[in-house]
Amino acid sequence: MSEPLQVEIDGTALQREIDALAEISEQPAPVVTRILFSEADLRARTFIKHLCGDAGLTLREDAAGNLFARWPGKNPALPPVATGSHIDAIPNAGRYDGVVGVLGGLEAIRALKRAGFEPARAVDLIVFTAEEPTRFGIGCLGSRLLSGALAADKAACLQDSEGVTLEEWRARAGCAETPLASARLERGCYRAFIELHIEQGPLLEREGIPIGIVEKIAAPATLRLELTGEGGHAGAVLMPERRDALLAGAEIALAVERAAASTGSADTVGTTGVFRIEPGAVNSIPGRALLEIDVRDTQQPARNAALRRIEQAVAEVCGRRRVEWNLQTLNADPPALCDGKLVNTVASVCERLQLPARRMTSRAYHDSLFMALLCPMTMIFIPCRGGVSHRPDEYSSPEQIREGVRVLAGTLAALAVR
Ligand code: GLV
Ligand code: MN
Ligand code: MN
Repeated sequence: MSEPLQVEIDGTALQREIDALAEISEQPAPVVTRILFSEADLRARTFIKHLCGDAGLTLREDAAGNLFARWPGKNPALPPVATGSHIDAIPNAGRYDGVVGVLGGLEAIRALKRAGFEPARAVDLIVFTAEEPTRFGIGCLGSRLLSGALAADKAACLQDSEGVTLEEWRARAGCAETPLASARLERGCYRAFIELHIEQGPLLEREGIPIGIVEKIAAPATLRLELTGEGGHAGAVLMPERRDALLAGAEIALAVERAAASTGSADTVGTTGVFRIEPGAVNSIPGRALLEIDVRDTQQPARNAALRRIEQAVAEVCGRRRVEWNLQTLNADPPALCDGKLVNTVASVCERLQLPARRMTSRAYHDSLFMALLCPMTMIFIPCRGGVSHRPDEYSSPEQIREGVRVLAGTLAALAVR
């Protein structure tokens, strides 16, 4: 049978599932917060497992908590095709980031099943552990471990802000029976990986184009900076005596902005997204500060130039202010190039569905960045209102989601048919 490209997507069921998943949150609606291994994250995983079971998929969970839901193919010797994304959500997030790729991926599989399509090779839906960096400061934890971009022994030592390690969290979450290293997959394990995601930027909406096909994912880096000055009484310690960790951090946050603005590349972005101080009392000098800094560019040399400038600023500011510092690079990844043939496959599916599409770069990172180390990869983007993401008002319409799922289903069919 040739692939049925005109599959019927059940947009109503899909939207119902997206809304039901959004209810599973650490904060009341419309906010979605699901930090890795939180009670909400664990409940959300159970919700997805039930849906995958209902769809007749076979479930496997690896040592990193990545979930694989398989639709077996006729020929088990052929490497499967995979799709998927994540369901964890940063604090104060919306309901579509990651979720569209997971529940949309599931609906693509169900739609192909309903259409009577029989895949030659298996189709896997992957729900990656912790695409978001909230707990451990490093994003794409699950896909880093799958691909070997992060070694298991290094990952096991990762600590959250309470000092709890990944190993301890794995034990609490009940996925520590097998060693973390067993999550590693071999290059070539998949025929291809295609991730459906909201754009998280404004271009598709602005240009009135329903589908983006990703050619490249920008290079992300994350720094964690601990500053130790000296606390004391806000009334009693005179200004020349002070070693205020917050003020050092404030100067460094401004230096991050300057570093991003001065690489000569309009694509460099720098964000100090975490800035915590201790003790956090109005009449007490901040003795300690923790900053987490996100720096990206589509070109690695420009990104690295910004990182170097930030490191220089840290040394200069802390020297001048007599503040001790400990700067860690949590990750500094290269950009990923999508597979040209796969991009063409998605483009021809769009043509056959008569859906306008444009090729584009992903400025956000995704698990696809690391899946590219294992197999050919690309991503399908759909518009989101105002380009807004990582906010509760993040929105893509049911129709926009449905179009994305149609393209994903068509692409999975084209890849799994032989
Ligand atoms: C992913 O959530 C990113 O920060 O790009
Ligand atoms: Mn995100
Ligand atoms: Mn995402």
